[in-house]
Amino acid sequence: MADANPRSTAVIGLQWGDEGKGKLVDRLAGKHDATVRFNGGANAGHSVVVGGKRYALHLMPSGVLSERALGVIGNGVVVDPEALLKEIDALSSQGVDTSRLVISDRAHVVLPYHKVEDELREAFLSGGAIGTTKRGIGPAYGDKVQRSAGVRMGDLTRPDVLREKVELACRLKNVTVQRMCEEAGLAPTVLNADEISAQALSWGERLAPMIDDTVYLLNTMYRDGKRLLFEGANATLLDVDHGTYPYVTSSNSSALGICAGAGVAPSVVGRVIGVMKAYSTRVGAGPMPTELSDATGDLIRERGREFGTTTGRPRRVGWLDLVAVRYSVMLNGADEVAMTLLDVLSGFDELRLCVAYNTPDGQTDRFIPDGARLSRATPVYETLPGFTQDLTGCRSLDELPVAARAYVERIESFIGAPISSIGVGPDREQTIDVSPGVGV
Ligand code: IMP
Repeated sequence: MADANPRSTAVIGLQWGDEGKGKLVDRLAGKHDATVRFNGGANAGHSVVVGGKRYALHLMPSGVLSERALGVIGNGVVVDPEALLKEIDALSSQGVDTSRLVISDRAHVVLPYHKVEDELREAFLSGGAIGTTKRGIGPAYGDKVQRSAGVRMGDLTRPDVLREKVELACRLKNVTVQRMCEEAGLAPTVLNADEISAQALSWGERLAPMIDDTVYLLNTMYRDGKRLLFEGANATLLDVDHGTYPYVTSSNSSALGICAGAGVAPSVVGRVIGVMKAYSTRVGAGPMPTELSDATGDLIRERGREFGTTTGRPRRVGWLDLVAVRYSVMLNGADEVAMTLLDVLSGFDELRLCVAYNTPDGQTDRFIPDGARLSRATPVYETLPGFTQDLTGCRSLDELPVAARAYVERIESFIGAPISSIGVGPDREQTIDVSPGVGV
């Protein structure tokens, strides 16, 4: 069992993303000294409502909306400087103080050619495409791992190094980019190293004061008794090793990515809070056994405003997959679970929970972290009575209708982790704290 008052906390999505992690991070941020992104890039989309104002965050740690926490972009993130600068400008114009941002000098940079490659690869794969966010995430991580032309944030302030790396990258990539354009029947794109280096240097000039060694920063803070909040982007079932591969993102987006992506030891991660929606959603391609392609699905999508924060794409919607959530609780070592969007499920006669899968090899209650195998699984449901009451004004468990409480209790007993808070609306205040002192 985790320390009841740990010095560091991680907030991790237990499904396919968009679980409402931003709202929880925002609530927790005021009690921490730094909020830390350790994976992903501008593919993530946190949407946080504070005082009726909606903020859309992509690269920026959500803690920047709090009054005191430092926002840290760790080494495991891939940073699109153009997107980050846009976000900084947009938040500043909304009155947010963005000066508490620190970016790892080792975080890799998403450059314009990564977005070209992402787009081309998706066009090339057509029917087999992953449905990426086209933010250049996979190609940027690819360069990092291949070690040939990866550009790191620190390089943006060293013109000679930057120029050399970008030139090499363009030489390497122009070969395949031309071929792919030809094969996909697209107009040829020629990557121009001069233009890209000049652009990257100008971004570097603006970002230079924020670039630092975040590994020493975070470890020193921890040693000095400060509290760290690790903010997972994307989510567990999109983890490159443990998700529904290949329909995943290119980083370790579960809690397992924290140590490598922030440069901290496992003992630093004190408590893991998993975040799950009261139903399932997914953006992009890949299996989703409980998907609803009917009026029920449409209604949940409308009510839950299930349209991507990053791409605006309508999200795929389905009943809650407890097999998947229980797997994610296990994988992350989640000490507690924050449930979000329970209010969206008001008005259905019955609610379904997936408790096992039927597969060509028989029934199983284990998750199948493999795209091809999971696509052959069909859900085995348990059906519970629905509820009609509007939950958005509920602030305690007692105020919930009996059927809603029964739904929460069944989930809790199946996943084997306590549900410490329940979201009943988008605003910070629209939350039921089930175990005060534990959740937040
Ligand atoms: P990529 O991360 O852009 O390469 O996209 C890979 C897959 O992950 C696609 O199916 C995306 O829709 C999905 N994905 C990436 N980030 C998020 C997120 O923050 N929320 C939901 N889906 C995401």
